[in-house]
Amino acid sequence: MGQKLRIGVNIDHVATVRNARGEGYPDPVRAAEMALAAGADGITAHLREDRRHISESDIDSLVLITKRRGRPLNFEMAVTREMEAIALSHLPHAACLVPERREEVTTEGGLDIIRGHTAITAVIARLAGAGIRVSCFIDADLAQVAAAHSAGAQVVELHTGAYCQAVRERSPDAERLLENLKAAAREAHRLGLEIHAGHGIDYETVKPVAAIPELMELNIGHFLIGEAIFIGLGPAIQRMRWLMDEARATRAA
Ligand code: PXP
Repeated sequence: MGQKLRIGVNIDHVATVRNARGEGYPDPVRAAEMALAAGADGITAHLREDRRHISESDIDSLVLITKRRGRPLNFEMAVTREMEAIALSHLPHAACLVPERREEVTTEGGLDIIRGHTAITAVIARLAGAGIRVSCFIDADLAQVAAAHSAGAQVVELHTGAYCQAVRERSPDAERLLENLKAAAREAHRLGLEIHAGHGIDYETVKPVAAIPELMELNIGHFLIGEAIFIGLGPAIQRMRWLMDEARATRAA
């Protein structure tokens, strides 16, 4: 705690736009270079089973440019043999285990570590054995935090999607969902885990999330890539960075 909150930029949706035309433009690797130049602390990319956005060759290039710049690549992956083999051959700095269903539009909920405990424990051990820092993307649920810890994860990433959606819909549930995130962060910290958060974060929701003192990193994608259409990727990241810093400074004051 007390360290600067890192911002990881997820560039998946640059690839979504590229793939809509089946051509090579816009290039998510160029977006990653721009994000790092604009102050992103790391790059996140999700190689989905159906390859709907990021491709394996994108991962090849992202590994190279992040290593060259000394910044982490966070490789989001489903718990499958195929993704494990790809992670082990590319050796990204970090891997984030996420649930994946073919028909979902985006990662809809957290990983159920209680249900998949044996398989997830084994995957974490193999990835960690290769020097990859492993995180688990989970809902803000104390039992899932405990399961991530006992499965050997070094990091948990708390799913902020439900909270962010509640804020956008002006739902009375927003407050309770924020409290759940705070409680999960406290519990994960008590267990010695590093804590990240992400999904659905925009300029409005970033401040309450960033103010949670145990958080070390936010991973933000869709909103930043959308905002880049209007103001450019660098300025969008810099504004998000500024809001994160302001949330932390306000909390400390
Ligand atoms: N973190 C994880 C684990 C994710 O799966 C995603 C979405 O790919 C994000 C963060 C970023 O979410 P968003 O694109 O909504 O900002």
